[in-house]
Amino acid sequence: MQRRSFLRLTTGGVVVAAVAGTAGLSGCSSALPAEALAAWQPPPRPAGGTASTAATSAINPLDPDTSVRRWLLSHALLAPHSHNLQSWLVSLEAPGQILLHLDLQRLLPETDPFSRQMMMSQGTFIELLAMSAAELGLHAQVQLFPQGVFDAQRPDARPTALITLMQADGSPAQQPDPLFAQIVRRHTHRAPYEMRTPEAAALASITQAAQRAQPGLRSGFAVAGSGPAAESALAQHRQIAMDAWKVELETPRTLLESYRWIRLGPKEIATHRDGISINDPMVRALAAVGLFDRSKASAPDDPGIGAQITGFNEAIAATPAFFWMVTQDNQRTTQVEAGRAYVRAQLAATAAGLSMHPLQQALQEYPEQQAHYQRIHQLLGATAPGNTVQMWARLGYAPPTTPSPRRGLEAHLMKPRT
Ligand SMILES: Cc1cc2nc3c(=O)[nH]c(=O)nc-3n(C[C@H](O)[C@H](O)[C@H](O)COP(=O)(O)O)c2cc1C
Repeated sequence: MQRRSFLRLTTGGVVVAAVAGTAGLSGCSSALPAEALAAWQPPPRPAGGTASTAATSAINPLDPDTSVRRWLLSHALLAPHSHNLQSWLVSLEAPGQILLHLDLQRLLPETDPFSRQMMMSQGTFIELLAMSAAELGLHAQVQLFPQGVFDAQRPDARPTALITLMQADGSPAQQPDPLFAQIVRRHTHRAPYEMRTPEAAALASITQAAQRAQPGLRSGFAVAGSGPAAESALAQHRQIAMDAWKVELETPRTLLESYRWIRLGPKEIATHRDGISINDPMVRALAAVGLFDRSKASAPDDPGIGAQITGFNEAIAATPAFFWMVTQDNQRTTQVEAGRAYVRAQLAATAAGLSMHPLQQALQEYPEQQAHYQRIHQLLGATAPGNTVQMWARLGYAPPTTPSPRRGLEAHLMKPRT
């Protein structure tokens, strides 16, 4: 008898495996290898200034032995990043400073042709870094694009941010942030959610958290159970999400781009510790016998693609709320700030016991998505020139999920110039 297994990917959807029985696979585990998850236990905090007691010995912001900056970075690298690419390169050459670059080898040219999501993913990193500095009684002064801003088409080798550490001045804006505690608890959750409407207080805390990073941000929710207009909006959210996901799966070059970042089986996952982890014994078995070939895009009528669509649609149906963020313009700095706002929103959701799952497909700028891009912008009233839906995500209550891999600090350190 054929058994179908829906596997959640770490980006966007599910892969389905249809195999005749599972004999011989029972000894295999789908748990991710421990070394891929080691970064989720950051090192102990450095001695010195603490979150709550200014009276204790202060930490030297110049950080001569780099231990403070390493601690900050160990938290920042837990940030969400599209496709879990972790495109963060840092230089610690100048005392008390972190110079952040986008790793140009880790981009998504097909699904993120203008690197908007890459910029957001620089922002998520910067926000966690700044939050971690505040936790130590430091202030991280962030200068975006210190050598000039990338053009609107593509990023280049110039840095995305120069972060300078200084003593916090004791003002409310530089106090430790309660969201810090959520950094190691935050995970993207792609499973079906309970159909329970999120509490109003939780929604308010998400809005507040996002707006602290980006004061001009327009954000909102589509929530089930709040009248016929809300139900109709929710139905439109669901339909657009499903249609856009189908386009991504049925467009060969965008599907292949995801295949390129799949890490299949414990060896690949432990070696790369990034991308889309699949460790299900059945998919590994299919790949071993040549039935899951990552070098070729599956045809739209492939049963695997059909099943991925089914699995995604099930998750969309089990979504009691959507969260969205709209910016007035789509400047590079705005994109980075939107990333800072998004991770704060997700941390606030985590604190409130809620899960989030970004749905970027309809927000992507490649031609095949254009109709869905326009639909979601229309639905969210983001049609004025420059208005951009930067984030759109499922929101709801769900049982805990597992972390995704991280490459660890050393992978992000640029070699000092000689
Ligand atoms: C800008 C941005 C876009 C993202 N888009 C999607 C998406 O469309 N679908 C999805 O499942 N996850 C998306 N994610 C979540 C990432 O895949 C996730 O952060 C990454 O796999 C690491 O997992 P973690 O968030 O659980 O640590 C996005 C994250 C960011 C920051």
